[in-house]
Amino acid sequence: MKFFVDTADVDAIRELADLGMADGVTTNPSLILKSGRDILEVTREIAGLVDGPVSAEVVALDADAMIAEGRKLAAIADNIAVKVPLTWAGLKACRVLSAEGHMVNVTLCFSVNQALIAAKAGATFISPFIGRLDDINLDGMELIGEIRQVYDNYGFGTEILAASIRTVNHVAQCALVGADVITAPPAIIKALATHPLTDKGLEVFMADWAKTGQKIL
Ligand code: E4P
Repeated sequence: MKFFVDTADVDAIRELADLGMADGVTTNPSLILKSGRDILEVTREIAGLVDGPVSAEVVALDADAMIAEGRKLAAIADNIAVKVPLTWAGLKACRVLSAEGHMVNVTLCFSVNQALIAAKAGATFISPFIGRLDDINLDGMELIGEIRQVYDNYGFGTEILAASIRTVNHVAQCALVGADVITAPPAIIKALATHPLTDKGLEVFMADWAKTGQKIL
Protein backbone atom coordinates (compact mmCIF):
# COMPACT_ATOMS: atom_id res chain seq x y z
CA MET A 1 0.00 0.00 0.00
CA LYS A 2 1.36 3.40 -0.98
CA PHE A 3 1.54 6.32 1.47
CA PHE A 4 0.70 9.77 0.17
CA VAL A 5 1.13 12.76 2.49
CA ASP A 6 -1.96 14.94 2.79
CA THR A 7 -0.36 18.37 3.22
CA ALA A 8 1.22 21.33 1.45
CA ASP A 9 3.80 21.73 4.23
CA VAL A 10 7.12 21.22 2.43
CA ASP A 11 9.18 20.60 5.59
CA ALA A 12 6.84 17.80 6.68
CA ILE A 13 6.91 16.28 3.17
CA ARG A 14 10.73 16.46 3.05
CA GLU A 15 11.06 14.67 6.40
CA LEU A 16 8.80 11.80 5.32
CA ALA A 17 10.30 11.61 1.82
CA ASP A 18 13.80 11.24 3.30
CA LEU A 19 12.52 8.17 5.20
CA GLY A 20 10.87 6.66 2.12
CA MET A 21 7.43 7.26 3.65
CA ALA A 22 6.11 9.64 0.98
CA ASP A 23 5.15 7.81 -2.20
CA GLY A 24 3.21 10.89 -3.25
CA VAL A 25 1.41 13.98 -1.95
CA THR A 26 -2.16 15.24 -2.01
CA THR A 27 -3.18 18.87 -1.66
CA ASN A 28 -6.50 20.66 -1.80
CA PRO A 29 -7.60 24.32 -1.60
CA SER A 30 -7.88 24.15 2.20
CA LEU A 31 -4.33 22.78 2.52
CA ILE A 32 -3.00 25.48 0.15
CA LEU A 33 -4.71 28.09 2.35
CA LYS A 34 -3.12 26.55 5.45
CA SER A 35 0.35 26.65 3.83
CA GLY A 36 0.01 30.37 3.10
CA ARG A 37 1.86 29.79 -0.20
CA ASP A 38 1.10 30.43 -3.87
CA ILE A 39 -0.42 27.27 -5.39
CA LEU A 40 1.82 27.15 -8.45
CA GLU A 41 4.99 27.84 -6.49
CA VAL A 42 4.34 25.40 -3.65
CA THR A 43 3.13 22.66 -6.00
CA ARG A 44 6.33 22.99 -8.04
CA GLU A 45 8.42 22.71 -4.88
CA ILE A 46 6.48 19.67 -3.64
CA ALA A 47 6.75 17.95 -7.03
CA GLY A 48 10.53 18.19 -6.71
CA LEU A 49 10.53 16.50 -3.29
CA VAL A 50 8.83 13.22 -4.22
CA ASP A 51 9.03 10.96 -7.25
CA GLY A 52 5.37 9.88 -7.10
CA PRO A 53 2.13 11.67 -7.91
CA VAL A 54 1.41 15.11 -6.44
CA SER A 55 -2.29 15.95 -6.57
CA ALA A 56 -3.11 19.59 -7.33
CA GLU A 57 -6.78 20.52 -7.34
CA VAL A 58 -8.66 22.62 -9.88
CA VAL A 59 -11.04 25.25 -8.50
CA ALA A 60 -13.24 25.97 -11.53
CA LEU A 61 -16.73 24.49 -11.54
CA ASP A 62 -17.39 24.12 -15.28
CA ALA A 63 -15.67 21.49 -17.39
CA ASP A 64 -13.89 23.74 -19.88
CA ALA A 65 -12.36 25.89 -17.15
CA MET A 66 -11.41 22.78 -15.16
CA ILE A 67 -9.64 21.40 -18.22
CA ALA A 68 -7.74 24.67 -18.73
CA GLU A 69 -6.73 24.79 -15.06
CA GLY A 70 -5.83 21.10 -15.14
CA ARG A 71 -3.53 21.60 -18.12
CA LYS A 72 -1.82 24.51 -16.36
CA LEU A 73 -1.32 22.47 -13.17
CA ALA A 74 -0.12 19.41 -15.11
CA ALA A 75 2.48 21.57 -16.89
CA ILE A 76 4.19 22.25 -13.53
CA ALA A 77 5.88 18.83 -13.47
CA ASP A 78 5.60 15.32 -14.91
CA ASN A 79 4.39 13.90 -11.58
CA ILE A 80 1.33 16.13 -11.16
CA ALA A 81 -2.04 14.40 -10.83
CA VAL A 82 -4.84 16.82 -11.61
CA LYS A 83 -7.50 16.66 -8.91
CA VAL A 84 -11.09 17.25 -10.01
CA PRO A 85 -14.29 17.08 -7.94
CA LEU A 86 -16.76 14.25 -8.42
CA THR A 87 -19.34 16.28 -10.33
CA TRP A 88 -20.60 15.80 -13.86
CA ALA A 89 -18.30 18.62 -15.00
CA GLY A 90 -15.42 17.00 -13.10
CA LEU A 91 -16.02 13.71 -14.89
CA LYS A 92 -15.96 15.47 -18.27
CA ALA A 93 -12.67 17.11 -17.32
CA CYS A 94 -11.37 13.74 -16.09
CA ARG A 95 -12.17 12.14 -19.42
CA VAL A 96 -10.38 14.83 -21.45
CA LEU A 97 -7.35 15.18 -19.18
CA SER A 98 -6.79 11.42 -18.89
CA ALA A 99 -7.10 11.03 -22.68
CA GLU A 100 -4.32 13.62 -22.94
CA GLY A 101 -2.14 11.38 -20.78
CA HIS A 102 -2.44 13.27 -17.49
CA MET A 103 -2.99 11.49 -14.17
CA VAL A 104 -6.38 12.45 -12.72
CA ASN A 105 -7.48 12.13 -9.09
CA VAL A 106 -11.26 12.35 -8.74
CA THR A 107 -11.98 13.68 -5.27
CA LEU A 108 -14.91 14.16 -2.88
CA CYS A 109 -16.22 10.62 -3.46
CA PHE A 110 -18.83 9.44 -0.98
CA SER A 111 -20.55 6.49 -2.69
CA VAL A 112 -19.86 3.31 -4.65
CA ASN A 113 -21.77 4.68 -7.63
CA GLN A 114 -19.57 7.78 -7.68
CA ALA A 115 -16.48 5.55 -7.62
CA LEU A 116 -17.90 3.43 -10.42
CA ILE A 117 -18.62 6.37 -12.70
CA ALA A 118 -15.21 7.95 -12.00
CA ALA A 119 -13.49 4.72 -13.05
CA LYS A 120 -15.53 4.70 -16.26
CA ALA A 121 -14.43 8.32 -16.90
CA GLY A 122 -10.80 7.15 -16.79
CA ALA A 123 -9.75 8.28 -13.31
CA THR A 124 -6.22 7.31 -12.29
CA PHE A 125 -7.22 7.65 -8.61
CA ILE A 126 -10.55 7.77 -6.81
CA SER A 127 -10.53 9.55 -3.45
CA PRO A 128 -13.26 8.31 -1.08
CA PHE A 129 -13.36 10.43 2.10
CA ILE A 130 -13.49 8.17 5.15
CA GLY A 131 -13.44 10.73 7.98
CA ARG A 132 -16.12 12.96 6.52
CA LEU A 133 -18.49 9.96 6.22
CA ASP A 134 -17.69 8.95 9.80
CA ASP A 135 -18.43 12.57 10.83
CA ILE A 136 -22.06 12.14 9.73
CA ASN A 137 -22.39 8.69 11.34
CA LEU A 138 -21.89 6.72 8.12
CA ASP A 139 -19.20 4.06 7.74
CA GLY A 140 -16.32 5.41 5.66
CA MET A 141 -14.36 2.17 5.87
CA GLU A 142 -17.30 0.13 4.59
CA LEU A 143 -17.22 2.33 1.46
CA ILE A 144 -13.54 1.52 0.86
CA GLY A 145 -14.31 -2.22 1.00
CA GLU A 146 -17.28 -1.87 -1.33
CA ILE A 147 -15.30 0.09 -3.92
CA ARG A 148 -12.53 -2.54 -3.73
CA GLN A 149 -15.09 -5.25 -4.47
CA VAL A 150 -16.68 -3.37 -7.38
CA TYR A 151 -13.34 -2.47 -8.98
CA ASP A 152 -12.15 -6.07 -8.62
CA ASN A 153 -15.45 -7.45 -10.01
CA TYR A 154 -14.89 -5.59 -13.26
CA GLY A 155 -11.11 -5.19 -13.42
CA PHE A 156 -11.06 -1.39 -13.20
CA GLY A 157 -7.49 -0.10 -12.99
CA THR A 158 -8.42 3.06 -11.07
CA GLU A 159 -6.49 3.12 -7.79
CA ILE A 160 -8.41 3.53 -4.53
CA LEU A 161 -6.80 6.48 -2.75
CA ALA A 162 -8.37 6.44 0.71
CA ALA A 163 -8.61 10.04 1.92
CA SER A 164 -9.88 12.02 4.90
CA ILE A 165 -7.94 9.71 7.19
CA ARG A 166 -8.16 10.84 10.79
CA THR A 167 -6.80 7.94 12.86
CA VAL A 168 -4.09 5.29 12.74
CA ASN A 169 -6.86 2.67 12.84
CA HIS A 170 -8.14 4.03 9.52
CA VAL A 171 -4.72 3.24 8.02
CA ALA A 172 -4.67 -0.34 9.31
CA GLN A 173 -8.24 -0.94 8.15
CA CYS A 174 -7.44 0.46 4.69
CA ALA A 175 -4.53 -1.96 4.40
CA LEU A 176 -6.78 -4.86 5.47
CA VAL A 177 -9.53 -4.08 2.95
CA GLY A 178 -7.07 -3.48 0.12
CA ALA A 179 -6.95 0.27 -0.56
CA ASP A 180 -4.18 0.92 -3.08
CA VAL A 181 -3.09 4.16 -1.43
CA ILE A 182 -3.80 6.07 1.76
CA THR A 183 -3.31 9.79 2.04
CA ALA A 184 -2.90 11.00 5.58
CA PRO A 185 -1.61 14.06 7.44
CA PRO A 186 2.07 13.83 8.49
CA ALA A 187 1.12 13.42 12.17
CA ILE A 188 -0.95 10.31 11.42
CA ILE A 189 1.85 8.75 9.35
CA LYS A 190 4.35 9.39 12.16
CA ALA A 191 1.90 8.01 14.75
CA LEU A 192 1.88 4.66 12.90
CA ALA A 193 5.22 3.94 14.57
CA THR A 194 3.93 4.36 18.10
CA HIS A 195 2.48 1.85 20.56
CA PRO A 196 2.15 2.28 24.34
CA LEU A 197 3.68 -1.16 24.93
CA THR A 198 6.73 -0.14 22.88
CA ASP A 199 7.18 2.91 25.15
CA LYS A 200 6.62 0.83 28.29
CA GLY A 201 8.98 -1.93 27.14
CA LEU A 202 11.70 0.56 26.27
CA GLU A 203 11.39 2.20 29.68
CA VAL A 204 11.99 -1.15 31.41
CA PHE A 205 14.91 -2.04 29.13
CA MET A 206 16.54 1.36 29.79
CA ALA A 207 16.12 1.00 33.55
CA ASP A 208 17.63 -2.51 33.54
CA TRP A 209 20.45 -1.43 31.24
CA ALA A 210 21.39 1.42 33.59
CA LYS A 211 21.67 -1.15 36.42
CA THR A 212 24.26 -3.19 34.44
CA GLY A 213 26.66 -0.22 34.48
CA GLN A 214 27.76 -1.20 30.94
CA LYS A 215 28.24 0.88 27.75
CA ILE A 216 28.14 -0.18 24.10
CA LEU A 217 30.03 2.89 22.79
C1 E4P B 1 -7.23 14.46 0.25
O1 E4P B 1 -7.15 14.30 -0.94
C2 E4P B 1 -8.39 15.09 0.88
O2 E4P B 1 -8.57 16.37 0.39
C3 E4P B 1 -8.23 15.10 2.38
O3 E4P B 1 -7.80 13.80 2.79
C4 E4P B 1 -9.46 15.53 3.12
O4 E4P B 1 -9.29 15.31 4.50
P1 E4P B 1 -10.23 16.00 5.59
O5 E4P B 1 -11.61 15.45 5.47
O6 E4P B 1 -9.59 15.63 6.92
O7 E4P B 1 -10.18 17.47 5.31
